[in-house]
Order: sequence, then structure tokens, then C-alpha cells
Amino acid sequence: MKALLLDGKEVSARLKEKVAVQVDRLKENGIYPRLVVILVGDDPASAVYVRNKARTSEKLGIQSETITLKSTINEEELLAYIAKLNRDDTVHGILVQLPLPQHINAEKIIEAISPDKDVDCFHPRNVGLLMLGKPYLLPCTPAGIVEIFKYYKIETSGKHVVILGRSNIVGKPMANMLVQKAAHANATVTLAHSRTKNIKALCRQADILIAAIGKAEFVTADMVNGDAVVIDVGINRVEAPDAPRGYKLSGDVDFVSVSEKAAAITPVPGGVGPMTIAMLMQNTVTAAKHLSNFREKDKTEK
Ligand code: GUN
Repeated sequence: MKALLLDGKEVSARLKEKVAVQVDRLKENGIYPRLVVILVGDDPASAVYVRNKARTSEKLGIQSETITLKSTINEEELLAYIAKLNRDDTVHGILVQLPLPQHINAEKIIEAISPDKDVDCFHPRNVGLLMLGKPYLLPCTPAGIVEIFKYYKIETSGKHVVILGRSNIVGKPMANMLVQKAAHANATVTLAHSRTKNIKALCRQADILIAAIGKAEFVTADMVNGDAVVIDVGINRVEAPDAPRGYKLSGDVDFVSVSEKAAAITPVPGGVGPMTIAMLMQNTVTAAKHLSNFREKDKTEK
């Protein structure tokens, strides 16, 4: 393999250590960070993600609760749960796992979550603040990718970043973060999607290629240049009759061929995925600080 492996497990471990320190400091001050995750229905992938979030919270000393609701729940009932959590001062973070069943309007649900507790950074107020370069909480996956850049000292300033996929969860907020006039940003961003013409040629122009398009092994070696940093956000279940579960997880990048050509690459699993969870933990702590008006003591203060 030619490419440098960007190890999300290692970067996320460092980040989680920092979060745990902040949790301890909050607890010394009587503040117990608490995250509530709502899972509607029984989508198996969502169940795995939610379990990982709860497990990581507990490891870092963040109280976590998962509310599991039947897929038949109606919008009003779900809104009532959210209203209750919004009012509950012991709750600092609220996350409703997506996707939601068809009959529930996800936009309405996202807007009902208090922006102060919106640890996904999906609420229009938080999206707006991010766009204006004045973020409160950060979108977990894009911010996790920036952490990988920081850790491996991957320069973004002046670089051409091509993002594949315009979702509200990854593509759009990632573009927003990287175009800011700020440290670890200042990039020239192209946001490509299903209607983009000559997508292969465009990808070859990327210094940094971020694949978040939801198509298994979409990015092949002929689409990257030899100096490119390739970030794979995809987690696709691909049939694999020989695998124990009958499927394997595959990214949006054809790892085998691209890792022989690119300069650096994230694996799946063990790349972006662990970063998303670590950033969620950081957001929960940030929200807890904000909601309890906690200020980190300046190091020069006694
Ligand atoms: N579904 C897939 N990714 C996410 C995420 O980051 N947050 C939520 N709430 N749902 C998701």
C-alpha cells in the first residue's frame, strides 16, 4: 500500500481523552453531562450506531439514555418527547437518529429540538451560525474530518477540496466549514453530486477528495491523483455470502485500488466513523458547559 493510512481510531482516542478531562472538570463543579438519543423503529444499522453512541458516552463518564420508540409512533407523540427533553435541565444533548419513518417529517422534528441541545448541529439556527463562521456546536462528521486534518497536519488552506455528496449531514456542512476564513479551512471547495458533469475529471483535480455519496466503492483509482488525500465517509452494507453476517461494510471508495495510488486515505471501518462519535461527545460537553454557564478557568487564573 502506498498511501498513508489516516487512522480514525487513533485520532478519536486522543479526542476522547480530551473530552473525558472536560467531563471530570464539569463533574467537580456539580455538572453531569447527559445525552439522550431517540431511536424510532428498528433499522438495524441505526440500532448499531445508537448502541455505539451510548457505549462511548458511558466510557467517557457522560450519562446516556436511549429512548427506543416503535416505528408506528406519530409525529405529535415524538414532538411531545422532545418538548419534555427540551424542558429537562438535566439533559444537555438531544439526538434523534435519522432516518425517521416516512410518515414523520424529519425537518419538523429537527426544528423542535432546542438549538442549545442540538448536538447533531442540524437545527437551522446552528446551521446558520456555522455558515456565518460563528459556530456554537459543530456538525459531527465534518468536524471529525477536520480533526483528522489537524492530527496529520494536512493543510487545507488554498487547497482544492472536492466533496462528493450534498447531504445536510455531511456534504453541505463540510463545504461550509472548509470555505471559512479560519484556521484549518480557507479551502477552495467544489461540492459535487449526482447531477455533476464529468465527475471523474473533477475528482482528479482534487487535492483533497471527500466521498460522502452513499455508493459503495464509487471512487476508483482512475479518479484520484497521486498526491491526493482521500477521505471516505461511506458506510455501505454490501452482500458478502462468505461473511459471518452475510454482508460486509464498504466505503464510498474502492480502498484496494485507491490506497495504491493516493497519498493518504481513511479506511472503512476505522476512519471517519469513530471521529463522528468522538465529536458528538465533544458537542455534548460543549452544550453542558453552555447550558450551565460553565467557563473553563483561564490557565493563568488561580
Ligand atoms: N444518521 C446517520 N448519521 C447520523 C447522524 O450523524 N446523526 C443522526 N441523528 N442521525 C444520523
